[in-house]
Amino acid sequence: MHYSSARYAFGDKAADYGRLGQELAALLAGERDLVANAANTAALLFDALPELNWAGFYFLRRGELVVGPFQGKPACVRIALGSGVCGTAAAQRRTLIVPDVQAFPGHIACDAASRSEIVVPLLSGAALRGVLDIDSPRVGRFDEADALGLEALARLFVSASDWSAGGSPVA
Ligand code: SME
Repeated sequence: MHYSSARYAFGDKAADYGRLGQELAALLAGERDLVANAANTAALLFDALPELNWAGFYFLRRGELVVGPFQGKPACVRIALGSGVCGTAAAQRRTLIVPDVQAFPGHIACDAASRSEIVVPLLSGAALRGVLDIDSPRVGRFDEADALGLEALARLFVSASDWSAGGSPVA
């Protein structure tokens, strides 16, 4: 495994997400284990992206979202489809940027420090696998460039990983 610890200012978000994508591809190369890849992806994002307090995954298991590998404070374990930011993004299968979580009806507060949030659905073709959830202590931390960059990273993680157990780490 190669891990460069390269860090970026994200002044040019498109370019820096591109470099982070190369770093993620190298980190996941040759490994298809879902939990291993999710853990390393969450750790890379939490370490590389500025101003975060939570980064990680919820996986779709038996029709609800269940927390997966993450970095940050302990989080709520199960989220119904359609609930909170995560469940809404999953149900609508689209990225949600929430500039101020206190203004989002039904936001589920796991860490009181979270002030803005972005949630990217994980899709294998038409199949919903879960979501990538990222929180920041700063209002308005995420924009469309973050959405594009994180969607590309999420695709990389999904295609690098083995989903044959349906998102469950136990086959
Ligand atoms: N805020 C999320 C819940 C997950 S935590 O942020 C880790 C939501 O509203 O779905």
